[in-house]
Amino acid sequence: MIDRTTVDRIFEAARIVDVVGDFVALKKRGVNYVGCCPFHNERTPSFSVNPARNIYKCFGCSKAGNSVNFIMEHEHLNYPDALRYLAKKYSIPVEEKEQTPEEKQQSDRRESLMVVSAYAARAFHDNLFNEREGTAVGLSYFKERGFREDIIKSFELGYCLESPRDVFTQKAIKEGYKEEFLVETGLSIKSERGLFDRFWGRVIFPIHSLSGKVIAFGGRILKADKKAAKYVNSPESDIYSKSKILYGIFQAKNSIVKNDKCFLVEGYTDVLSMYQSGIENVVASSGTALTVEQIQLIKRFTSNITVLYDGDPAGIKASLRGIDLILQEDMNVKVLLLPEGEDPDSFARSHSASELEEHIRNKETDFITFKAQLLLDDAKNDPIKRSQLITDVVQSIALIPQAITRSVYLKECARMFEMEEQMLAETAETMRIKISRKDAKTQSFSEPQNTNIEPETWNIEPETLNRKTETGKKLLDAEKELIRLMLRYGQEILLAADESNSEPEVTVAGFIINELYIDELEFQQPLLHKIFDEYRQLMQNGNIIDDKYFLQHPDPEVSRLAASFEPKYELSKIHYRKSSVVKTDENSLLEITPKQVLVYKDERVKLRLNEIQHAMQQANNDNDTTRFETLFQQYHELTKVKMTLAVTLGNRIYQ
Ligand code: CTP
Ligand code: MN
Repeated sequence: MIDRTTVDRIFEAARIVDVVGDFVALKKRGVNYVGCCPFHNERTPSFSVNPARNIYKCFGCSKAGNSVNFIMEHEHLNYPDALRYLAKKYSIPVEEKEQTPEEKQQSDRRESLMVVSAYAARAFHDNLFNEREGTAVGLSYFKERGFREDIIKSFELGYCLESPRDVFTQKAIKEGYKEEFLVETGLSIKSERGLFDRFWGRVIFPIHSLSGKVIAFGGRILKADKKAAKYVNSPESDIYSKSKILYGIFQAKNSIVKNDKCFLVEGYTDVLSMYQSGIENVVASSGTALTVEQIQLIKRFTSNITVLYDGDPAGIKASLRGIDLILQEDMNVKVLLLPEGEDPDSFARSHSASELEEHIRNKETDFITFKAQLLLDDAKNDPIKRSQLITDVVQSIALIPQAITRSVYLKECARMFEMEEQMLAETAETMRIKISRKDAKTQSFSEPQNTNIEPETWNIEPETLNRKTETGKKLLDAEKELIRLMLRYGQEILLAADESNSEPEVTVAGFIINELYIDELEFQQPLLHKIFDEYRQLMQNGNIIDDKYFLQHPDPEVSRLAASFEPKYELSKIHYRKSSVVKTDENSLLEITPKQVLVYKDERVKLRLNEIQHAMQQANNDNDTTRFETLFQQYHELTKVKMTLAVTLGNRIYQ
């Protein structure tokens, strides 16, 4: 914790022109300054800095904020770290909150591991230039592979001397580094015969944390030795968890943001060669299977990933697995396969930078095309294989949490396979029920997704609802119908638990809550909103919700509404059983539930479109162009949503 007075002092000291000026070449224009925006690619400057108000604003990408925001955004730091960064720049002492002894010990320990890793990286790097063996063996290896010196320096590549087997360890100990930390970081290995160097005789690829600290190493053997592993890597430690980091992320992050895209490759040398060819937004999963945490790390900077793997069967398999994981995180994925026998490293070396770029531009395909191309050839004349392929693709699409993105891909899929979009959409919706089981498993619903549609785009003005228009009424009816399903059948099971995979069941309420939550949709009618929220809370806390819970609710409005959902013929049990309405309801929950969710979203979009149209007219009359443009943008987005929803719902609704 940084105390309030210090924060105020930092804000006072951090003049915006000065802070931004460290990263952007600024020119004075009138009272303001302008430059090329560091957050998106541009040639003509639209990034403006206003010294009087101490803020920046880009008229291209609309990023804006104060000095602290700028540092957070540009250096990818959280709020306290951005403050510390600026405090350091202006030599303002920062009083930190006292740590408990355990916290202190823990952070001291991590600090020690970082310090010894930084030392090792320096020592290995030094060897390349200042040790005869280092130059003759290490540096000449990198040179032979075509790596330029500036790349060797930016990535702090190095070499660990070969003999004796403990040169590095002994030198480190002599310089005061503790054995304990050398062993914990894996730089030294403890054996019966004492300590020796893990990386002896290997070239070194240091792995940097997001903030540029060395946290681990990969070491490549130089000789063709069948028995020894080609790469040796640092073990997991308090500072290194391999599933959470990507090789190259520190060097790549700014370029990822600028290009709004990240290339994902397999190995260390792939990163280096592409970087050297000018494609700096590249990271590697370093031989481990891609993890969700690694994808989320990329997601902090962009939602566009292009997977660039070898064209061999192993590479294809890894790509396919990667695709589904990336889709699940609601990111856009493209695939680029290289000719068989080539990896990004060899390809970048044997082609010029512009050829590489051109290849990427021409050969990059979206994942549907990728899957289709892989399989379509032998599926063409075989109806069974063909339908398997389509199911496979739809299954991938169903993984996408965002309904809107899903629809866009379904359209593409329908076009490619010459299928009816509506049918594919229905299949995908049914698959979603299975998928939502994963969220049910933890009883925590998916986090709202970073969508391109801002929540305010969806939100209906309260007056519109009060005006009691036909569309307004339809929306409220759709909301009410969802609540009815939740109160009447919420705990009914849409999908049974699967004991063999210890997968829990999916209930009607679980499904509805999840689907709305993902699109960040909240009910507009206050009472329905209240019930929905309470239901969600109860489920999240793992409560079983009794039939009577809402009937006996202390809020009379809630209980009244719940009662109104009770079937009419409660008195006559026989009649009730026979009631065809109830019967169809229960028998077809599997069909009704996802459909009703779509109907609701559709009503919501229609009403909002109406509203935006009116507002646009108003803005036009007022000559308020900024407002008009915002509205126009919203209108445009929602129109796309409307079209895709319409198709998904099909003629059942639009007749
Ligand atoms: N890898 C590893 N351990 C191994 C083999 C591979 O950790 N025994 C990881 C490394 O991160 C490596 C990546 O998997 O970079 C890809 O492996 P590979 O394609 O075999 O290596 P390259 O990076 O292509 O290395 P080189 O070109 O030097 O052969
Ligand atoms: Mn290679």
